[in-house]
Amino acid sequence: MSDWQKSNWRNKPRVQMPDYTDAAALQKVEAQLSKYPPLVFAGEARRLKEHLGAAGRGEAFLLQGGDCAESFDQFSADAIRDTFKVMLQMALVLTYAAKVPVVKVGRMAGQFAKPRSAPTETVNGVELPSYRGDIINELAFTSEARIPDPKKMLQAYTQASATLNLLRAFSTGGYADLNQVHAWTLGFTETEKAEAYREMANRITDALDFMKAAGVTADIAHTLESVDFYTSHEGLLLEYEEALTRNDSTSGKWLAGSGHMIWIGDRTRQPDGAHVEFCRGVLNPIGLKCGPTTTAEDLKVLMSKLNPENEEGRLTLIARFGAGKAGDHLPRLIKAVKEEGAKVTWVCDPMHGNTIKSATGYKTRPFEQVLGEVRDFFGVHKAEGTVPGGVHFEMTGQDVTECTGGVHAVTEEDLSARYHTACDPRLNASQSLELAFLVAEEITKQRNTSAARAAG
Ligand code: PEP
Ligand code: CO
Repeated sequence: MSDWQKSNWRNKPRVQMPDYTDAAALQKVEAQLSKYPPLVFAGEARRLKEHLGAAGRGEAFLLQGGDCAESFDQFSADAIRDTFKVMLQMALVLTYAAKVPVVKVGRMAGQFAKPRSAPTETVNGVELPSYRGDIINELAFTSEARIPDPKKMLQAYTQASATLNLLRAFSTGGYADLNQVHAWTLGFTETEKAEAYREMANRITDALDFMKAAGVTADIAHTLESVDFYTSHEGLLLEYEEALTRNDSTSGKWLAGSGHMIWIGDRTRQPDGAHVEFCRGVLNPIGLKCGPTTTAEDLKVLMSKLNPENEEGRLTLIARFGAGKAGDHLPRLIKAVKEEGAKVTWVCDPMHGNTIKSATGYKTRPFEQVLGEVRDFFGVHKAEGTVPGGVHFEMTGQDVTECTGGVHAVTEEDLSARYHTACDPRLNASQSLELAFLVAEEITKQRNTSAARAAG
């Protein structure tokens, strides 16, 4: 892309970004970050793009998940391990149902900056700037805490690199070995789904024993011992993104070195805005949130800007409409994609259209609504003859009480017990696994329909 420079976004209208007051301090941080190593490499981003392309064709399925906002305070090896572990369990359930590889992408190692619905927040008559994520300011409700501090970008970088280091160790160091499938259930809370998971694990272990007895070769065994695990976050704080952008010497293209995949949020997808300008020039796979206000016209412009070469896996459209609303919006966007002959990967985010305020004052998401939107998404794709390519969840491996419902039936009264999120409510470990089984049912139904269509 010859007309693109990593700093061009600065000439475009920007929204949802902080106004740093100390320009010298900001420049110092940017200069420092631009000397640091990138967190990811171009070859990895290209490989993820291929996997996402396969998901767009129905030959793979994307599982993207993690915190709404990563937190400096709650940073711990155990929290990373637990989320990684639940994602492996969910991926296994989905692989078993879909009979295709599951592409695992964490909302991790960089998911720090948050768009907000209002620029300020008022508590007991006191109005302060909104919290915008730990990379920008602090959650505490004091005027100092809410001042954006560029130095927080350095702490975010350090935390992201430590997180990614641990994820890489878990992915290849034996923890993710399929032969350990039973060990992943240790510490499971006892639910029907834990039992169903164990039964599936037994069948997988039997299959592995059979393969060993039949003399399966070492290189196949090796592919079962490690997993590919990728990172992603919203590319919101463009000073941070630009400072970590690097030229890829093999292709001459630019890589956003902050994570494998970055996405554009529902509030920052203006076709002529700063975020689209930045994302269009980097080689990474790009996500684009599509909400109720996304028009077919805007989507067409965005697709041509973000994926001018119509490359498979480059653009993932993340639908987030709210339960009961996909039918009102998704068909017109699918039609726009068809009219352009655009190659995209459709993914369902059933979280961001289903946030409500509970009677007890907490922001929450009812499990039934989350599941409802997933079912709507599969239903619309079935009717349109298009491919539901994956799911995108806000979730954690911890036993939090942030979303209501699920087999443990978290109630609105329970929310205060373990409500730890810095931003939006997340599915806990048991709700996440339960949802994976229910998504698996949708995939199985969809596979059966496609098979019947092919046969009939
Ligand atoms: C998010 O993914 O955390 C988010 C803010 O989503 P959206 O842009 O779709 O509202
Ligand atoms: Co969120």
